[in-house]
Amino acid sequence: METTCQRLSSASADLIIKTHPHAEILYWGPRLQHFSPEYIASLARPVANGRLDVDSPVTLMAELSHGLFGSPGIEGHRQGLDGSPRFTTTSAIRDGESLTLIAEDSVAGLTLESQLVMSAAGVLKVRHGLRNLKPGAWQLDRLAVTLPIAERAGEIMAFHGRWTREFQPHRVSLAHDSYVIENRRGRTSHEHFPALIAGTPGFNENQGDVWGVHLGWSGNHRLRAEVKTDGRRYLQAEALWLPGEKTLEQGEMAWTPWLYASHSPRGLNGMSQQFHRFLRDEVIRFPQGARRPVHLNTWEGIYFRHDPDYILQMAEAAAQLGVERFIIDDGWFKGRNNDLAALGDWYLDEQKYPQGLTPLIARVNALGMGFGIWVEPEMINPDSDLFRAHPDWVLALPGYAQATGRHQYVLNLNIPAAFDYLVARLSWLLGDHAIEYVKWDMNRELVQPGHAGRAAADAQTRQFYRLLDTLRARFPAVEFESCASGGGRIDYEVLQRCHRFWASDNNDALERTTIQRGMSYFFPPEVMGAHIGHRRCHATFRQHSIAFRGLTALFGHMGLELDPVTAGAEEQAGYRHYSALYRQWRDLIHGGTQWRVDMPDRTTVAQGVVSDDQQQALFLVSQIAMPDYTLMAPLRVPGLDPLGRYRITLIDHPNIQLTGHGGHTMRKLPAWMEQPQVISGEWLQAAGLSLPILDPESAILIALTRE
Ligand code: GLA
Repeated sequence: METTCQRLSSASADLIIKTHPHAEILYWGPRLQHFSPEYIASLARPVANGRLDVDSPVTLMAELSHGLFGSPGIEGHRQGLDGSPRFTTTSAIRDGESLTLIAEDSVAGLTLESQLVMSAAGVLKVRHGLRNLKPGAWQLDRLAVTLPIAERAGEIMAFHGRWTREFQPHRVSLAHDSYVIENRRGRTSHEHFPALIAGTPGFNENQGDVWGVHLGWSGNHRLRAEVKTDGRRYLQAEALWLPGEKTLEQGEMAWTPWLYASHSPRGLNGMSQQFHRFLRDEVIRFPQGARRPVHLNTWEGIYFRHDPDYILQMAEAAAQLGVERFIIDDGWFKGRNNDLAALGDWYLDEQKYPQGLTPLIARVNALGMGFGIWVEPEMINPDSDLFRAHPDWVLALPGYAQATGRHQYVLNLNIPAAFDYLVARLSWLLGDHAIEYVKWDMNRELVQPGHAGRAAADAQTRQFYRLLDTLRARFPAVEFESCASGGGRIDYEVLQRCHRFWASDNNDALERTTIQRGMSYFFPPEVMGAHIGHRRCHATFRQHSIAFRGLTALFGHMGLELDPVTAGAEEQAGYRHYSALYRQWRDLIHGGTQWRVDMPDRTTVAQGVVSDDQQQALFLVSQIAMPDYTLMAPLRVPGLDPLGRYRITLIDHPNIQLTGHGGHTMRKLPAWMEQPQVISGEWLQAAGLSLPILDPESAILIALTRE
């Protein structure tokens, strides 16, 4: 007899799934010390009065046909027929910690392939594929991945956002009905990051059971946390399809995106650490031993004003500041003098660059820096040679006037000639020039996306992946950054094919403190583009000291985004100082375990990184507003070896005087700032480290080195 129960394990997590006759996840949580299949008998449910006479499982596919009475995992029909599938498992194929379940509904004429993979890091990956076996198209309206979570998960954390304000967390209580996130913007979006975190009420960074999921998909999506009236609850995620968008002809198959799930019994840090480790082990492709270079991106320095002589001056100044990669942003191609025209015309602007790009690149290389460039291939301006030649290449529905966004339309990548045109032009760019890095932008949303009269948002997203895959195969050494007006396309599926994200167009260090913390729940610092911007931020017009800007950009992949030529001596000294600090600490920041710290005063934001061997740690404490209390609470330092003894060093601090009265906030500094101290990891975690009183919009950086 076939085993009816399977167990997928990592060192930290377990998934127990009943496979026959209908698949049902019975347990997803911390690794069990002992498990035997007969134990699942303890979970056999009573049948309540007043409803069906049989038990109603929340099956892996969450079919309505079992009496789910909640949001099903599959919806569709064949011209009104075959619309209520119920799958029976036909086989279970085991390969290490991967399980493939094949199930069939012979009445509806559908087969289902479910893949579940437990990674070594403890992150569970799940996806489903549906195939139509019968003649006649099956109209697929929804296909979702559903993961049951424990009844004690009574609170949800999700993220809202907008342009220049990504990854803002919010909480809602989960007691009845559903909490739903829907995204129809055609890209991952700033507004609806595809993730949900459920947890025991009051869960925080180090406490509570949390179940976090992220849908790896760069298009429209729907995520749901649902409580059934019987108290059982589940998380559900899917690609969202526009009406009529997905049909399966006989023999055709459609897949859900992968859902990535991480459970932690120790709060949000545990969840994030598993996600980070998983990405480092399995997703992020970065040359072994290579380091993330300090960038300088010209955008906020010169915008569209490309003059190679001046750009060369910028490069020379950048090289003096410790910059390792120099990137020219928007404005280099034919007719691109503002954001009104030229997208699609991927030819060099020879008026601006009469000698071509090669001499500039050679000079940049001679200065010891790599060279990078900006593109936005998926777009087309109505005012472009490409549009004049191919007005029918716009992603649109016939008969409607399409609204522009940032004066541009979207190019329909489902048209082979349009796709091939992009491959050819980008191959010219990357093949004929020594370009090691591409900032790939995507600056508008999809409205009425259509191909051959049908909705085509899903198809466009897939073609975007194919385009990037084609270029990556041709130019494997080139690094790509995913940008969409800042953080509009940040997810695990695009991360399979890019190396870095532009987290936000907002370089304001105060705003970045929240944005980057929000992003850190799912992404490690090395993929988070974080730049030091102008003293007076272009997005908010706030002014910040170079110290606050420098320290905030440190916990990511650092760069500068400004004109180093016109910067004053004090600013330049700051850029030099913080780029050196980044180079000094990047191995730790990009390789260690990240910790966010809950501070009792919400105006204090603390985070750090501890090396895997617990020899070294670096913590940043940022004060984002006027402190609520006169004294700051001690920093309880997580992640250290309790038995280790650590030397505490102040690495960087605001412009407070370290001798005498300590600036206007203090008459006396904490003792450790004046006299070096060595303290045990256990004590630092349990009792903590006294903090200096900080002004709003300032930060300190503390290193802990094991003796
Ligand atoms: C978008 C990006 C910016 C910059 C501009 C160029 O807004 O997010 O960083 O590259 O486009 O037009």
